[in-house]
Amino acid sequence: MQKVIKSNWVIGNWKSNPSSLTQAKNLAKEIKAIDFDKINGQIMLMPTNLHLTSVIDEMQNSKVLVGCQDVSFTSDTIGAYTGDCSAEQMQAIGAKWTLVGHSERRTYHQESEKQLIAKIENALKNGLGVVLCIGETLEHYEKNQTLNVLQKQLSILKEVQKLENNLDKLIIAYEPVWAIGTGKVPQVAEVENVHQNIHEYLLTINANLAKSPILYGGSVNADNVETFAKSDWIDGVLVGGASLVADKFASLAKTFFATKK
Ligand code: PGA
Repeated sequence: MQKVIKSNWVIGNWKSNPSSLTQAKNLAKEIKAIDFDKINGQIMLMPTNLHLTSVIDEMQNSKVLVGCQDVSFTSDTIGAYTGDCSAEQMQAIGAKWTLVGHSERRTYHQESEKQLIAKIENALKNGLGVVLCIGETLEHYEKNQTLNVLQKQLSILKEVQKLENNLDKLIIAYEPVWAIGTGKVPQVAEVENVHQNIHEYLLTINANLAKSPILYGGSVNADNVETFAKSDWIDGVLVGGASLVADKFASLAKTFFATKK
């Protein structure tokens, strides 16, 4: 199959880290100080909502984009939704992209397909790009159900209104749930097979949708990133733990982009 040329990404998902605003600002400052000028792709940080404005401020005049980890399911831009931030609010403070459907949201917040569709629509409507996270559990993996599970998770894209006007605003992040934060990673050949399958499935929905970059996530670090970067089927990495220490993140990102050249 012909490989479509896509943009390359290294995204740091800070989750609910670090513990203080001062630490978040310092981490952002350290990352800003790294020379990413020659990289052939995009770097993005996704801090917790609490630290978002400060990290956006720190990253002014830098190549590093900043996004958020979630947006509200409600299309109301303001209102009585305790604990939620709307896509409009995120866009207004300068977030460029949002994660949707991270496995921790799916698990701890029981996010339904209906909610995920609404979140994607809200994000796109307000100009935010969407990193749609998908992934199988260990049980699915062991039962060889990975591809079925992923296709089901991707099938919600068929329901997203106005997706065809926003096809450059979508990234797929394949993150096996059993690889997240565990230090276990699949073989690159397994990831390639999955990514090819995702690509083929997206083609069945819309040929342009299949141009979306497909990232791998789950225990990526500075030591193993090169093996993923070598694959033409892997357009980027979504990084949790290894994005929390500036020099480790820098070395990971530089290795990734140097390998992609
Ligand atoms: P990890 O997290 O790199 O710590 O495994 C990845 C993610 O959950 O996005």
